[in-house]
Amino acid sequence: MCGIIGYIGKQKAASILIEGLKRLEYRGYDSAGLSVISREFGVETIKAVGKVANLENKINGRDIGGTAGIAHTRWATHGKPCDQNSHPHTDCRKNIFLVHNGIIENYQELKDNLVKKGHKFSSETDTEIIAHLIEEFNKKTDFKSSVLKTLKIIKGTYGLAIINKKEPDKIIVARLGSPLILGIGREEFIVASDIAAIIRHTNKVIFLEDGEMAVITPENCEIFNAKNKSINKGATELDWSLEKAEKQGFAHFMLKEIFEQPTSISDAVRGRLVVKDGLAKLGGLKDMAEKLRNIKRIVIVSCGTSYHAGLVGEYMLEEYAGLPVEVEYASEFRYRKILLNKNTAIIAISQSGETADTLAAIREGKNKGALTLGIVNTVGSTIARETDAGVYNHAGPEIGVASTKAFTSQLAIFVLLTLFLGRQRDMSLITGKRIAAEMNKIPRLIEKILKQAKAIKKITRKYTRYQNILYLGRKYNFPIALEGALKIKEISYIHAEGYPSGEMKHGPIALIDGNFPSIIIVPSDSVYEKNLSGIQELKARGGKIIAIATKGDKKIKKLTDEVIYIPKTLEMLTPLLSVVPLQLLAYYMGIQRGLDVDKPRNLAKSVTVE
Ligand code: F6R
Repeated sequence: MCGIIGYIGKQKAASILIEGLKRLEYRGYDSAGLSVISREFGVETIKAVGKVANLENKINGRDIGGTAGIAHTRWATHGKPCDQNSHPHTDCRKNIFLVHNGIIENYQELKDNLVKKGHKFSSETDTEIIAHLIEEFNKKTDFKSSVLKTLKIIKGTYGLAIINKKEPDKIIVARLGSPLILGIGREEFIVASDIAAIIRHTNKVIFLEDGEMAVITPENCEIFNAKNKSINKGATELDWSLEKAEKQGFAHFMLKEIFEQPTSISDAVRGRLVVKDGLAKLGGLKDMAEKLRNIKRIVIVSCGTSYHAGLVGEYMLEEYAGLPVEVEYASEFRYRKILLNKNTAIIAISQSGETADTLAAIREGKNKGALTLGIVNTVGSTIARETDAGVYNHAGPEIGVASTKAFTSQLAIFVLLTLFLGRQRDMSLITGKRIAAEMNKIPRLIEKILKQAKAIKKITRKYTRYQNILYLGRKYNFPIALEGALKIKEISYIHAEGYPSGEMKHGPIALIDGNFPSIIIVPSDSVYEKNLSGIQELKARGGKIIAIATKGDKKIKKLTDEVIYIPKTLEMLTPLLSVVPLQLLAYYMGIQRGLDVDKPRNLAKSVTVE
């Protein structure tokens, strides 16, 4: 979950590390730290609790020598956020310094052994044992062999970058279960847990695989596989630009990403929707077409917002592709005894492509012989690589911790997948054409909703004081009620519950009074009338109501306190529209409450711990 970065080359390392940390900060912001190494000055380490800006303030523009270094931004797992627990961690003699993303599961037993041997620990972290183990082995063998021996005995996950005061022209990095990408520049290398920290320097990268390790000097980089054999790995040229990863005049990444949705959805469907044939062409699934024709069942695994996208996908695939679909929280999947076989396809949905629970779920599915597919945004991420086939979202980097544009692009991919699988089965040409044509219009329709941002902001002002909100929706928009509630919880720390509208009378209605408003998604669709009954029930209890309704619906105005209109579209596509006002509501609510919407407390963008 944490972010790590390492630099070695000809430039001063400290400023490059700080700049990279800022791009990794969404992975965790409990503390930040760096170590810079040089032959002349040895190792200088600086740490600060809180955001990267605090570390930058501590350095205060001071010129730090050294053209190699490592740095870390922390999302605390073992030990509270404080200087001692911040990375880089070091050994007793202060020769070995390292940054770590992941968790060492057997750290306590290893620590007890090291303490018996006389090692003194200065933090509560699992990470620190790695530095002491390397120190211990380094008494008898060289730096690289010491790292190798250490990696053999630690259990858990790691993305590691390690320096040694005795060998200042070298960084050793290793990966197991946590992402690590090596950027190849001109006479310089930059290694990080995310492309966002590398892209400013180079677009030529190597994705390290689990079990691989690299020894990097300013001139060279040698990669070793799990058996310690030197291997040649080809570099990938990325087409992500730095501009894509910056705010471009918006106050926050979240707002920029909400406004980017017309573009990100266009990008997701570009070249893939064939309106005249009512088809979706998906390059990533081309070789799987025959296998997919024989699929009898789909199990979707994902977490958080991606899970909500899966729920919408379930409605789409069942209605139009005629396939039975189950959606599972990835974190629960492994505890279920779900029947899987070669006729089951598991679809993993993940923005980051690194979510540990989702990754574990597809590994489990593979073991049981199921076909695994990915709907992933981050190119080259672990889930993208480990699934048998997949479809990229093409939403570009999502930096705001709360997922917005990745979610709508996931929905767009489900529309494509529904066409792909549906047309292999019973979906008619006419239905396929209608869905494809309407899907093409979605970006323009979202633009219309975004034009109401000011009005939505105004509505939000009236509701900032409430501590609870109920979100309701039915059929395709039930998952959107869940997503709306999740967004408001994350961004404005308001307690919210998402419910299927029909379930409200089975319990939650007891909560409703003048202090407990509801937001109901009530487009003019096949369940409109049923939703109206729900609205009446809320009104009868004195609850305030905000409705998300279809343009032209005048009736709803009389029944509710506020209405936000979305344009008319096919019922299955309404979630792509109805979620947008809810994203804006959450954003403005967070802003009005004076919160840091891009970095909500306790959260991290990429959840690489189980
Ligand atoms: C919510 C949010 C999280 C993620 C979840 C899965 O705004 O961003 O709930 O959706 O952690 O992450 P990915 O999609 O990267 O697997």
